[in-house]
Amino acid sequence: MEHIIDKTYEFAKNFHAHDHSGHDFDHIKRVYFNAQKILETEPEADSFIVLMSALLHDIDDHKMGTDGNETQRFLSALDLDKQTIHKILSTVCAIGFSKSGAAPEFETLEQKIVSDADKLDAMGTMGILRTIQFSITINRPLFNRNIFPEENLTPAVYNDMNRATNTAINHFFDKLLKLKNALQTESGKVLGQQRHAFMVDFLRHFFTENNCPDWQDYLTAYLQKNTFE
Ligand code: ADP
Ligand code: NI
Repeated sequence: MEHIIDKTYEFAKNFHAHDHSGHDFDHIKRVYFNAQKILETEPEADSFIVLMSALLHDIDDHKMGTDGNETQRFLSALDLDKQTIHKILSTVCAIGFSKSGAAPEFETLEQKIVSDADKLDAMGTMGILRTIQFSITINRPLFNRNIFPEENLTPAVYNDMNRATNTAINHFFDKLLKLKNALQTESGKVLGQQRHAFMVDFLRHFFTENNCPDWQDYLTAYLQKNTFE
């Protein structure tokens, strides 16, 4: 199975080589690394399914502009049985914040591990950097002190990149601060706790430096309401 993982690694590397939407190959490598870390404390999991899914999880993401069947085509060309292909595809399909939301329900341990591995890379220092990179790529402002996050964030609203409320700082409230509670595995939760606390700290400093007491209050109320701290 080792050579199949190597082949998949090279495929993902070529596929993600020119991405600037937060899905470059460095993201894939970090998710792969996070998945390996979580696997250390999840001996029951099928590590081949987890590692293959980590490498392939963003190939057919809606932001990547494929016809949605790129992963399946790649897997079909490998020497794998139907059941294994199905397990990998169902893992890749199940994850992603825009699909499974802030309270995901997964069917398998492998889905939980890959979801945690991916979510961890949207939190902490990497979460902050990727959000800034993404906002610049889609030409959205970093912050507008007069525009607070959307109160009623339906999936349709969340996915509307041009809405006025879509700023980098608001993305923390729209998504990043919710990720801690969406983590599924024990080691994912431990890592996520630290990354969450760092993002809260970052926002506290940001609002202090920019003299935004109303945003400090907003953050406090948000964290209380969601019992996140
Ligand atoms: P993932 O790979 O975690 O499923 P996405 O495809 O949703 O992530 O987005 C890629 C990166 O860009 C993530 O770090 C995410 O938090 C960030 N991002 C997504 N939407 C926005 C947005 N509207 N503004 C700023 N950053 C965003
Ligand atoms: Ni991802």
